[in-house]
Amino acid sequence: MTGVSGKAAVVTGGGSGIGRALATALATEGASVVVADILEENARSVASEISRAGGSALAAVCDVSDRASVRDMKARANDSFGTISLLFSNAGVTSLEPMMEMSDDDYDWITHVNFFGASNCLRAFLPDMMAQRGGHVMATSSMVALTPSYLPCHVPYVAAKSGLVGMMLNLRVELSEYDIGCTVLCPGGVATGIGNTPRYRPARFGGPMDRPVKLSKSVAQTRKTIHFRPPEEVAEMVLDALRDNRPMVVTDASQRSIFVEELVDVAMAAFDAAEAYDRRG
Ligand SMILES: NC(=O)c1ccc[n+]([C@@H]2O[C@H](COP(=O)([O-])OP(=O)(O)OC[C@H]3O[C@@H](n4cnc5c(N)ncnc54)[C@H](O)[C@@H]3O)[C@@H](O)[C@H]2O)c1
Repeated sequence: MTGVSGKAAVVTGGGSGIGRALATALATEGASVVVADILEENARSVASEISRAGGSALAAVCDVSDRASVRDMKARANDSFGTISLLFSNAGVTSLEPMMEMSDDDYDWITHVNFFGASNCLRAFLPDMMAQRGGHVMATSSMVALTPSYLPCHVPYVAAKSGLVGMMLNLRVELSEYDIGCTVLCPGGVATGIGNTPRYRPARFGGPMDRPVKLSKSVAQTRKTIHFRPPEEVAEMVLDALRDNRPMVVTDASQRSIFVEELVDVAMAAFDAAEAYDRRG
């Protein structure tokens, strides 16, 4: 069981959306929170909001796709709050364009922030948790990892988020020896500004964008079928799961049948085909 009161937490992508909701919920429950975000004004605004409400917070600028930047953020987090025992590796960026219409920069940007961003943070913060034999790590994946063909034109995002599911479920086994909890969050639609105007694209991937991510007509149609949950509800669901050290959080129960059709049935058919092959002798 992972309680949060009196602990020090880092939330990446903490300046907006799900990260903001997690940071404020953690502070309300008595954790000291590092609000880490690539956009300084967002990190500062959430940290001030927490401080004004009587909580303890530090704003830290950080690009999670850059190892040196993560190490620097960790040093500032340790200076302010000592050992960090709760990590919410949540920063993420999206794109909804056909794979071959994306620039190399955008392809790399989506992959690096969503996948390597999480592993950079895990590899930076886990050694201290392992030394103290305790803590909890969470990474934000997505429902698309469980329903991979539901929303088309999402290739590097789905690849990175699917990688996070595998990574966290595999890592969980290693971490259990150190009494460190491990959870992967697979949100369905959440009412945030993701993709609106990605001013947060780092210079080495082309720099800030001043337009929303492109949506093809079919993607826009599919998006209309998605229910968007308030980020505060997602934060509540995550903290509940932490208390029981649950391996996975999903936020949209209505996507169960799509998961079964798109992943379970597809894998079962492949197992059936392998059995049929063996029966042929
Ligand atoms: N909103 C949804 O419907 C939805 C669904 C599934 C998964 N997710 C995932 O939830 C997480 C949070 O997204 P959100 O919806 O709250 O979006 P958001 O845009 O509101 O928040 C993302 C935050 O990440 C920050 N960020 C971007 N690049 C960064 C970088 N390189 N380093 C550090 N910070 C960076 C942004 O500045 C922003 O504050 C993401 O991982 C996203 O992929 C969102």
